[in-house]
Amino acid sequence: MAEDAAAAAMAAASLSDDLEPATDRTRIRSILADGAARAGERVVVGGWVKTGREQGKGTFAFLELNDGSCASNLQVLVDAAVHPLAPLTATGTSVLVEGELKKPPEGAKQRVELRVDRVIEVGEVDPAAYPLPKTKLTLENLRDVVHLRSRTNTIGAVARIRHQLACATHRFFDENGFLYVHTPIITTSDCEGAGEMFQVTTLFSHAEKVEKELKENPAPSASDIEAARVVVKEKGDVVAQLKTAKASKQEITAAVAELNKAKENVSRLEERSKLKPGIPYRDDGTVAYENDFFKRQAFLTVSGQLQVETYACALSSVYTFGPTFRAENSHTSRHLAEFWMVEPEIAFANLQDDMNCAERYVQYLCKWLLEHCREDMEFMVKNYDKTAIERLELVSSTPFQRISYTKSVELLKNVTDKKFENKVEWGIDLASEHERYLTEVIFKKPVIVYNYPKEIKAFYMRLNDDQKTVAAMDVLVPKVGELVGGSQREERLDLLKTRIQDAGLPLEPYEWYLDLRRFGSVKHSGFGLGFERMILFATGLENIRDVIPFPRYPGRADL
Ligand code: 4AD
Ligand code: MG
Repeated sequence: MAEDAAAAAMAAASLSDDLEPATDRTRIRSILADGAARAGERVVVGGWVKTGREQGKGTFAFLELNDGSCASNLQVLVDAAVHPLAPLTATGTSVLVEGELKKPPEGAKQRVELRVDRVIEVGEVDPAAYPLPKTKLTLENLRDVVHLRSRTNTIGAVARIRHQLACATHRFFDENGFLYVHTPIITTSDCEGAGEMFQVTTLFSHAEKVEKELKENPAPSASDIEAARVVVKEKGDVVAQLKTAKASKQEITAAVAELNKAKENVSRLEERSKLKPGIPYRDDGTVAYENDFFKRQAFLTVSGQLQVETYACALSSVYTFGPTFRAENSHTSRHLAEFWMVEPEIAFANLQDDMNCAERYVQYLCKWLLEHCREDMEFMVKNYDKTAIERLELVSSTPFQRISYTKSVELLKNVTDKKFENKVEWGIDLASEHERYLTEVIFKKPVIVYNYPKEIKAFYMRLNDDQKTVAAMDVLVPKVGELVGGSQREERLDLLKTRIQDAGLPLEPYEWYLDLRRFGSVKHSGFGLGFERMILFATGLENIRDVIPFPRYPGRADL
């Protein structure tokens, strides 16, 4: 039996012997981690040349090769006898090479280098045309080349940090018994009730298609259709006559086929006559969404919260982590039109439980970066923000300050050393300058502000006994301001209905959400952490457009 299986496996293997051998490339990260210990080993390495220079009167070249697995480059030495050097040295050139790892001469900076004896592949670069010059482009300029900026040290480091934060997120929630739920990107509910949704519709593309078609082939007129009906009548008569005349079966079948063709032509013309240019409107002037793809209005989600609540109210602890979209015309360094959000939702949890979870999660992320992203964090410290590592250390080890909105406003009102652009008084939505003053100046650590005025917060937040505030909480951190927004949810049916109506929203689209309160309602809480804001906070970079691979903001959606 076992022998049969082995023979079958061998036969199967030989079925693919027409494939070229696998590349089996070694990542630079693993080579550099082991350093000189790997001297003598043969490896295949691939990457992009950061800098290349010919030496020894053109007898060999040094290439600084990076493959994105870590910030550092591997020094690669190619002999002119192995490959012509000129096509290898331009910045941005890709090479796949094979050779032996060597311990470099005494006193060299590197602990290990690669002596190449085979150049397997080269992707050349014309330096005059390459959009990334050797002199550094600003992060702002790099936004004009989003398809190439991933080759830069900064964007590479951000990508690795982002990846590690995503890994840490899943680890944290998994370790704490949360299930990952994929909530929809297309939704018919406005979670925040703020009307900042991008609409998803095929009405425009459909209208354009119809318009083009009608231009090429105008809609049939009533007389065209009438003429086609006359043809049907004529063909019908022919069939009848043939039947009466007891014509051959062949003749009758042919005539019936003609008749059917004529009928089909009428249906086609009738169908085409219904084509109308432009967006379909109802008699009352409103858009006829019943003609749209989903037969109703649909949008890109602003938050997966409402949907993830349905799973929390069944599976207890859940989270969603996905892209969210906001059509707000914000041109700040903290807002994107498309950003990623991590949203846990916990059943049988009140506001304190929610804060505890947010605090532990943010601390976990900071610790994770210190353990898994040391080199990239050091790069950030060197190039962008001297305090980036200190900040992670502080946040991961210091309990967050908790303070009510009312007390925060009192503190801010008494500030004398700074003039705020936005006046502070009870009832205002705290502006970024206020949030940052609280966390950076007054407390010098993360602050959780809770119990906000109900007027400035979303309808789903639980009304407090004072009837004036809701059980909301925002986590504010240095450099960024608001990192997390969350709340205990209103679990009482009547109060929730009132809050929806008070917010000027219709009840009908939220009936399913109300059902969660009609059937087995529980106290529950959750929050949303802005993933890019977390990366800003960690890296110390200034603009949120540089911490997402493909930034979308008003006027800009490249690629
Ligand atoms: O405070 P927000 O609007 O909360 C919600 O959407 C809730 N439904 C979350 C929940 O309870 N499940 O957004 C949450 C976080 C903010 O604190 C901020 O970090 C980030 O998302 N955020 C943005 N990040 C980038 N660009 C934008 N336009 C953002 N808007 C919010
Ligand atoms: Mg918020």
